[in-house]
Amino acid sequence: MRSLILFTALSAILLAGSYEKKGVAVVTDELYKKECGSCHFAYQPGLLPSNAWEKMMSNLQNHFDTDATLAKEDFDAILDYLSKNSAEKAMEYKRSNKIVKSIKRTEVPESISKTPYMIKKHREIREDLITQDEVKGLFNCTACHTTAQKGIYSERDILIPNYGRWED
Ligand code: HEC
Ligand code: HEC
Repeated sequence: MRSLILFTALSAILLAGSYEKKGVAVVTDELYKKECGSCHFAYQPGLLPSNAWEKMMSNLQNHFDTDATLAKEDFDAILDYLSKNSAEKAMEYKRSNKIVKSIKRTEVPESISKTPYMIKKHREIREDLITQDEVKGLFNCTACHTTAQKGIYSERDILIPNYGRWED
């Protein structure tokens, strides 16, 4: 019995050790907030690996059917910020860790909501709750995750418009 308790405690410590911080790191860069947070919420860099950010940044003239091009100086600064704070460099954060581990080595995701971890986590939500006017699409994290700005995406902080609290 005692060894069982010890074993359980030890595994809990080992499991927690792979990531000791909740959610993802918050956005700290003011230029990023201004330029990449004007059309939508400023997604935390820790939600994608650097190769995905680089791919997205290489095609800002056709950014999801909009033009999001930047002045050269701003572009360089933002790319640098995204690369330095990308998911694989923030593996101590639970969500960054899970996102990175879900992506195959040979794959470069097109967006956050297209990463295997995000697809899996949102699979059980009714389609009409996602496409409704108040949400529009999975890209709109802040429509459902009340603490998204703080980098916290826990289940207890979810409130879906015209549905309410998420219950499993
Ligand atoms: C002119 C408006 C505009 C600007 C500026 C803009 N975006 Fe976007 N962004 C969009 C639109 C529109 C979408 C697609 C939303 C959808 O799926 O309909 C999008 C989607 C995204 C997504 C994918 C979200 C998901 O579903 O996973 C990311 C990541 C993103 N943008 C990052 C950025 C970054 C980084 C910048 C700054 C360099 C930026 N955006 C600037 C309009 C913009
Ligand atoms: C339509 C509302 C909605 C939108 C939009 C949405 N989510 Fe979610 N999200 C949910 C719900 C509901 C769950 C819980 C699903 C479950 O447990 O089956 C969830 C789960 C998650 C989880 C896992 C939470 C956990 O405790 O396991 C993460 C991380 C997450 N979402 C991040 C995001 C990000 C980042 C975005 C934007 C790119 C986003 N979500 C957009 C509703 C949404």
